[in-house]
Amino acid sequence: MKILVAITGASGSPYAQRLLDNLDPRQHEIHVVLSNYANQVIREELPNGLQLPAGVSAHSLKSMNAPFASGSNPPDVMVVIPCSMGTMGRIAHGYSEDVLLRAADVVLKEKRKLILVPRETPLNLIHIKNMELLLLAGATILPANPSYYMRPATVEAVVDTVVARVLDHMGVPHQLVARWAEPE
Ligand SMILES: Cc1cc2nc3c(=O)[nH]c(=O)nc-3n(C[C@H](O)[C@H](O)[C@H](O)COP(=O)(O)O)c2cc1C
Repeated sequence: MKILVAITGASGSPYAQRLLDNLDPRQHEIHVVLSNYANQVIREELPNGLQLPAGVSAHSLKSMNAPFASGSNPPDVMVVIPCSMGTMGRIAHGYSEDVLLRAADVVLKEKRKLILVPRETPLNLIHIKNMELLLLAGATILPANPSYYMRPATVEAVVDTVVARVLDHMGVPHQLVARWAEPE
């Protein structure tokens, strides 16, 4: 698969790191783009910074030379993780002024899979209305809501409960987290 991972300035950069850690660049073509504010939050949340696995292609936000800026070359799946309310609103309303937003627009219009992993609480009506619009346009909204029924013992294991659901929706097989009612 051709996969685009977009990282924004919402809290939750460990989700992006763990997703990248669990995508194999030998099996997939993996691209990464960061919003203007992503780096600021990454500095607060990832002590070693974002670690891009070898083989992953990083793109500048301002470069429209990236393949996925055009409907002629869309990714199969785009994941915005974590997704800020700002980016969510801009995608919902068709802003396409940088390559992250344009790629999301392309993915929706080309009927590929757009998975948004928002992190915000509480939600206001604008957030909910934007989510409604995005759902109607075909996006998947997969909030960064960890689960606890498999008793995750570390922060990473908590993070992985969300990343496992993202991988499920991407169609990437994994054994990151045990599944309910299945022998481990
Ligand atoms: C430490 C920190 C944590 C933040 N957490 C969130 C968050 O969880 N959700 C959110 O929507 N915005 C959050 N923000 C605000 C966004 O970074 C801000 O709205 C920014 O403009 C988003 O820009 P972007 O969508 O281009 O990344 C946070 C900002 C900082 C500095």
